[in-house]
Amino acid sequence: MGQFPAADAPLLFFDSGLGGLTVLEKARKLLPNAPIIYAADYAGLPYGEKSEAMLAARVPALLGRLVERYQPRLVVIACNTASTIALTHVRAALDVPIVGTVPAIKPAAEQSRTGVIGVLGTAATVRQPYVDDLSAQYAANQLVLRHGSPELVVAAEAKLHGLPVDPAAIQSAVDGLRRQNGGDNLDIVVLACTHFPLLAPELQQAFGPDVRLIDGSDGIARRIAYLTQGQSWPANPSGGVAVFTKSDTHILPPLDSLRPFGIDSMDII
Ligand code: DGL
Repeated sequence: MGQFPAADAPLLFFDSGLGGLTVLEKARKLLPNAPIIYAADYAGLPYGEKSEAMLAARVPALLGRLVERYQPRLVVIACNTASTIALTHVRAALDVPIVGTVPAIKPAAEQSRTGVIGVLGTAATVRQPYVDDLSAQYAANQLVLRHGSPELVVAAEAKLHGLPVDPAAIQSAVDGLRRQNGGDNLDIVVLACTHFPLLAPELQQAFGPDVRLIDGSDGIARRIAYLTQGQSWPANPSGGVAVFTKSDTHILPPLDSLRPFGIDSMDII
């Protein structure tokens, strides 16, 4: 794709499921007329329970298909797990600008007063050397506690399917950080999985008012706007399309829960 894509060339957001909508939401505030394709790999959900080798092969291949099909001007990997494992592979394979999602450890370290930072992500994300590197680079003199929570991914998906959020899922994520040495002094928690901001009210209530929740979505939105500045866009907003890979285990969410994110149709690929 040349430097000046057609006005109707979309932004393509990618996640295993519905978590990337939390990134899309912020991007739409800066670029309200951007045509949107939101792709969810329901056939691969949950990524957090998959191996590095599997994701490093699957994500670039699937994104390759999606890029060929939708010809986006830019791809946003709105998933920490896929980004921390497969971003380099995707960039090597595709000739389109790619924005990834990085756990917000740097701003958390800048804002923490107690020096105890929690990182809540998927099991796959919290074990990545990438997280070791961010901690060493930006929070070397602080205590970084990590916890992987597959339950929160399930709870966030349930919420957007209009189902109740299991309070035990919230509590076990909170306990997973609080019960580690130093966990009593947490004052900031990085939501290092794009699904988790969907549960921000529940998590905030469970952590209490002394803990601040932080995620990387504002920074990603600014990066998307920066990389597309000077490009042309349609004169008016149009409804986005959500596409799901065909899954035997996950059913599609009701369209009404996607409408607040600017999505007004769904497709299965
Ligand atoms: N939303 C994804 C993330 O940001 C992962 C959820 C999953 O598939 O486990 O890590």
